[in-house]
Amino acid sequence: MLEHSLQQAIKVYANADEASAYVADKIAQIIKAKQEKGNLAILGLATGSTPKGVYRELVRLHQSEGLSFQNVVTFNLDEYYPMHPVEEQSYVAFMKQNLFNHIDIPAHQIHIPDGTLELSAIQAYCDLYEKKIVDFGGLDMQLLGIGRSGHIGFNEPGSLQESLTRLVQLDTITREDAADDFGGADKVPTQAITMGIQTIVQAKQIFLLALSERKAAIIQKALKGEISTAVPATFLQQLEHVEYILDQKAAALL
Ligand code: PGA
Repeated sequence: MLEHSLQQAIKVYANADEASAYVADKIAQIIKAKQEKGNLAILGLATGSTPKGVYRELVRLHQSEGLSFQNVVTFNLDEYYPMHPVEEQSYVAFMKQNLFNHIDIPAHQIHIPDGTLELSAIQAYCDLYEKKIVDFGGLDMQLLGIGRSGHIGFNEPGSLQESLTRLVQLDTITREDAADDFGGADKVPTQAITMGIQTIVQAKQIFLLALSERKAAIIQKALKGEISTAVPATFLQQLEHVEYILDQKAAALL
């Protein structure tokens, strides 16, 4: 991507609430445009502290402005492995608490990687996850955060551009950042199931949201650094259908 168009892809907001409201509005527009045509909206969703404000605003749009999610199908990026959905650290619990329990999405339209599988069943499951996305016609939108390791989803440094949904090892930085949730970095699972880089980039629109000064250094590397497996988010630089939505603190080093 030319420097000029990359610059156009970056939107900097005064604070996290404004940045989150922008993304929520974009998602609501996709849902409504699909509703008008009688179609499903296929959304790729993310977990972590970053998207919470987006989900809060989507819940508000549902509760106060009548936005319906009846036509929405979701695919979450990732889940820890092993992980049971009833555990409070599970991304199933996160999504219920932050979004699904508060909207009218039919339960059977929700997809989150299954952290309870036998090791030997994982690859076939991941292949099926990919196939389901394709069978729905692909993701209309993928929401992303970014880890301080440079990961998108749980595609840690070393992930290949052509990677698909699979079992991965988590980076040390990622496990340190999750330490508070698990009561210590050593208690964080060492593995996860994640959509791949290729799964993500095939989405028709991508919104990468980064908030707070904690993300300033990795945002600088992801947007301005050399494209490399060392910082998987750099693979997005080549794409025209990515928007980077930042608060001023995350954009401080650009
Ligand atoms: P965070 O995680 O939103 O909790 O900072 C982002 C990510 O790891 O993608």
